[in-house]
Amino acid sequence: MGISRRDCLLGFGALVAGGAVTSIVDGGTKLVHAATPATRFQQVNGEFGWTPHKLDPAECAEAAYQGYWYKGYACGYGVFYGIIGVLGEKFGAPYNQFPFAMLEANKGGISDWGTICGALYGAAAAYALFWGRDERTPMVNELYRWYETTNLPIYDPKDNAQGVKGAIPANISGSVLCHISVSKWCYENKIEATDKKRNERCGRLTADVVYKAVEIFNKKIELGKDFKTTFAVQDSVEYCGSCHQTKGQETNWAKGVMDCAPCHSGTEATGNMFKDHP
Ligand code: HEC
Ligand code: HEC
Repeated sequence: MGISRRDCLLGFGALVAGGAVTSIVDGGTKLVHAATPATRFQQVNGEFGWTPHKLDPAECAEAAYQGYWYKGYACGYGVFYGIIGVLGEKFGAPYNQFPFAMLEANKGGISDWGTICGALYGAAAAYALFWGRDERTPMVNELYRWYETTNLPIYDPKDNAQGVKGAIPANISGSVLCHISVSKWCYENKIEATDKKRNERCGRLTADVVYKAVEIFNKKIELGKDFKTTFAVQDSVEYCGSCHQTKGQETNWAKGVMDCAPCHSGTEATGNMFKDHP
């Protein structure tokens, strides 16, 4: 028996009707697909248009730790999910519509390149859904300087450990870079970078980053434009920056506010760059 043109039309009609019903049942969630911006860069619901809600840092830390293991050593995914995913669990759309797998690219300092610690990028990206550059920068500075100076990891998953159970060593990275953060920890503790303990260390650190990131998030909601970073600019950035990051100086060449010391301090590992420094 062939399918008549009429059957086809009815079939399509039924499908369209079915689609329409789904849209109504799903309520607002379908609207995102319906509204297509007319011009380049125009954003549905506006830029930085999402509404932030306060979260429980301990709950987010647990979600982030689980997220890290769920996607396989995915620090950035864990942190981003620990904020936006948890908002989605509590408040639904639009938070739960984010394609979270995008953040999987953060693994190992972006696809194992060891650049920015993926966990830190995950938090900055989450903040950017709510606040533009001027408001976001003090939040990022607060989180990143805390990361440079704090003995990590702190988080203890107790019975929920998914990698190595029990205590693991901690250290201060001095750097927001995955390469420096991981390599120093491995060197100081004589643990191979491919060891399961190192995976666990980064999983716990993912939980630590989201805990701090959510404290900052909550404080920002409370204080609005009055939110300020509590950390002083690093000594090295202040000192080196007076020549290398000051407008009008002949040697104003250096980009960024990472602590300069791990790379330019003349340690055993980096060599003495300053023997003949002016
Ligand atoms: C008083 C000004 C001043 C301060 C402070 C200063 N520098 Fe420099 N730096 C210079 C000058 C001048 C040069 C040489 C530029 C040239 O070669 O023409 C230089 C060169 C350098 C170079 C290139 C060196 C080379 O041999 O290739 C690096 C890297 C550098 N500085 C990093 C730093 C860091 C890191 C700090 C902080 C620990 C710092 N500087 C503090 C003035 C300064
Ligand atoms: C992650 C490591 C790292 C950090 C952190 C870092 N630098 Fe560098 N910096 C480098 C490397 C690598 C170069 C390129 C050196 C080269 O090619 O000779 C460089 C280049 C420079 C140069 C240009 C001189 C040259 O020889 O190319 C200056 C000036 C400089 N850095 C200053 C700073 C200052 C000031 C800070 C802190 C605000 C800083 N750096 C932070 C690694 C780093």
